[in-house]
Amino acid sequence: MRDGQAVLVTGGAGYIGSFVVRACLLSGRSVVALDDGSKGHFEAVRRAGADLADGALVHAVRGRVGDGELIRSLVREHDIEACVHLAGRSLVAESVADPLTYYDSNVGQGLNLLSALVASGVKRFVFSSSAAVYGHPATVPIAEDEPLLPINPYGETKMVMELALRRLHEAYGLTYAALRYFNAAGADEAAGLGEDHHPESHLVPLAVDAALGLRGALTVFGRDYPTPDGTCIRDYVDVRDIAQAHIAALDVLQAGGSVGPVNLGTGTGFSVLEVLDAVEVATGRAVPHVFGDRRPGDPAVLVASGERARHVLGWAPAHSLASSVAAAAGWRRAWPQGYPNGGA
Ligand code: UFG
Repeated sequence: MRDGQAVLVTGGAGYIGSFVVRACLLSGRSVVALDDGSKGHFEAVRRAGADLADGALVHAVRGRVGDGELIRSLVREHDIEACVHLAGRSLVAESVADPLTYYDSNVGQGLNLLSALVASGVKRFVFSSSAAVYGHPATVPIAEDEPLLPINPYGETKMVMELALRRLHEAYGLTYAALRYFNAAGADEAAGLGEDHHPESHLVPLAVDAALGLRGALTVFGRDYPTPDGTCIRDYVDVRDIAQAHIAALDVLQAGGSVGPVNLGTGTGFSVLEVLDAVEVATGRAVPHVFGDRRPGDPAVLVASGERARHVLGWAPAHSLASSVAAAAGWRRAWPQGYPNGGA
């Protein structure tokens, strides 16, 4: 283990988390992957470093991010000097139905984690934020100075954590990046890492499964949006690129800089129907679909401005939607049941 380079990755068994674990290992950092196993797959943590040289060190720990005693002991034991915090809940509809769980998990436990890190002297923090902090943005592409007006508890929890981070920076000198993810998609077929949520609610894996006959027709939520084909437009970012942005953020923090809020998007939007076309190209099969009502809370268009990411992190995505969708389809063909042992 390289001294002073160990990173605590919370939610390391999750979809984006497992790619972040792999990217950290590839960058020469050792990793402590903390996850409560409620959503993620420890098999993904194992795979994240399985094909790397013996020097790549990942410790998988089952536990809660809000367990301050556990965090303090992990910091001591593994000489942790930075934390990437991905653990949390991330479904908009669930957050509307059960806001207490979302505030407890994303804010309550998140603040406990921060208290333990600050008390232990860990001053570098990369936070998984979301485009959900913008609500229905007035200006697209969205820049980071767009007002934060979340329209659901999920987005609110991300905003509250961002506000807290700004104060912790001022008061305790904590340096941080708040990475506002747009729509993560894709897989790493060679490493065996992919998207496997239960239940699955995201467009790309649902469309891939529908095309491959692993599930029935997809419902397109709404065809009367003010967009060229009437379906919602999103900014799909490859999960491998998202992981790389975390490394860029860690590099800036470890060089003594601070980052603040940064959008992680491509600057280009695709409609739901355009995504279905991309899945058809990748799989060679049309995506069976029907049209349904709008999903409550879906903004018509969410596309990021990538200016700040380029400027502050020197980061720009390397993959296209076609390459993300091809990887997602390839992974699903190789692992039609997802990770072994189910997962939540
Ligand atoms: N969609 C469908 N049918 C489906 C699933 C999705 O038409 O069965 C549409 C949605 O309406 C949306 C687009 O496909 O227009 C993308 O939907 P996703 O559920 O894949 O992603 P979201 O844009 O809703 O969600 C993403 C993240 C969330 C985050 C949200 C913030 O996955 O974690 O952005 O805006 F909260």
